[in-house]
Amino acid sequence: MMYSTVTILVICFTIILGLYICDGKLNSRPVIGVLAQSSNPDDRYHGDTFIPSTYVKWLESGGAMVVPIRVKESDQYYETLFKSINGVVFPGGGVNILTSYFTKAAKLLYNMALKANDQGDYFPLWGTCMGFQQLTVLTSGKNLLSHLHAHGMLPLNLTSDYGQSRLLEDLPMDIWTSLTLFNVTANHHNWGLSPKNFSQNQALQSFYRVLSTNVANNGEEFISTFEAKKYPIYGVQWHPEKVPYDWDLGDALSHTKRGVKVTQYFANFFVEECRKSAHQFPDMDTLLSTLISNYNPHFSKDKRFQEDYYFNFTHNSYVLV
Ligand SMILES: *[C@@H]1O[C@H](CO)[C@@H](O)[C@H](O)[C@H]1NC(C)=O
Ligand SMILES: *[C@@H]1O[C@H](CO)[C@@H](O)[C@H](O)[C@H]1NC(C)=O
Ligand SMILES: *[C@@H]1O[C@H](CO)[C@@H](O)[C@H](O)[C@H]1NC(C)=O
Ligand SMILES: *[C@@H]1O[C@H](CO)[C@@H](O)[C@H](O)[C@H]1NC(C)=O
Repeated sequence: MMYSTVTILVICFTIILGLYICDGKLNSRPVIGVLAQSSNPDDRYHGDTFIPSTYVKWLESGGAMVVPIRVKESDQYYETLFKSINGVVFPGGGVNILTSYFTKAAKLLYNMALKANDQGDYFPLWGTCMGFQQLTVLTSGKNLLSHLHAHGMLPLNLTSDYGQSRLLEDLPMDIWTSLTLFNVTANHHNWGLSPKNFSQNQALQSFYRVLSTNVANNGEEFISTFEAKKYPIYGVQWHPEKVPYDWDLGDALSHTKRGVKVTQYFANFFVEECRKSAHQFPDMDTLLSTLISNYNPHFSKDKRFQEDYYFNFTHNSYVLV
């Protein structure tokens, strides 16, 4: 049977209208919070806490605005901010993942995210490197990491489950090829979650789907990518933000077009997740005065993270009005 031109036109129009309506439901002005952490003692004179600019650039490249999330603030600060933003990133770094101010704030945000999602209020979280490790502690209630040595660029060993994931199910062929065959994921960590420790922990095992593993320089296997099965929560032990934005000379980063496109894939994925959140700042002035653009990153020529935003503790409880 032949469809008439009119029928075909009507079908096309309906599909396009459907896509248009779906897109229209998304929040086209997503604002994402990046959590600060205490500065290394050597850098304290710049400020008590910092956020590497690479994370800010990565999220902005996906079409998001970024706000800093300070540590050591009142519960009310986090609750108010949470209602204003559309997603949170726990970045990499080097603070204690059981006792730090970073951990305290991450725990509040994580619990708020679980509760919001349980109530149908879509709210995505992303953890990179230490942020990934922090997620494992928040979910399991303990530190199950093993000491290892993983420095350098690697392809991912995808698990058989990756095809069922939200994060990787729609991988375009060239991104799949880059991820699985080329050195595009930047590793820079001395701790990792072994597949064994993961599968022996009921809380982790039921919460996350493992999407990739890697073998560290010292032969230890670690989980390199996971996502929560029932929540828009994603974790990568590697650094998707580094390739285009970090020029550390000592770190053997490779800056290939394939690596840059991988970075962009993950930025686009996460920011699109955040577009599904309808949270909003109470008004434009509050948004404008909270944005990371109110701060100037400090450039130091001798550092691993070459550009950092610094913040001093406010001590008094800073509350958004
Ligand atoms: C933090 O406070 C110190 C000491 O007063 C000051 O030197 C530094 O510039 C401040 N940093 C920021 C980011 O305000
Ligand atoms: C996790 O695995 C490592 C070996 O990779 C082991 O040393 C460590 O004790 C394990 N941690 C726990 C809590 O089981
Ligand atoms: C990836 O890096 C490793 C270690 O440096 C090297 O042996 C390997 O050939 C690289 N693979 C590709 C595809 O460049
Ligand atoms: C992938 O897994 C194999 C088998 O365990 C291992 O030999 C290889 O080093 C892993 N590749 C990477 C890039 O971690």
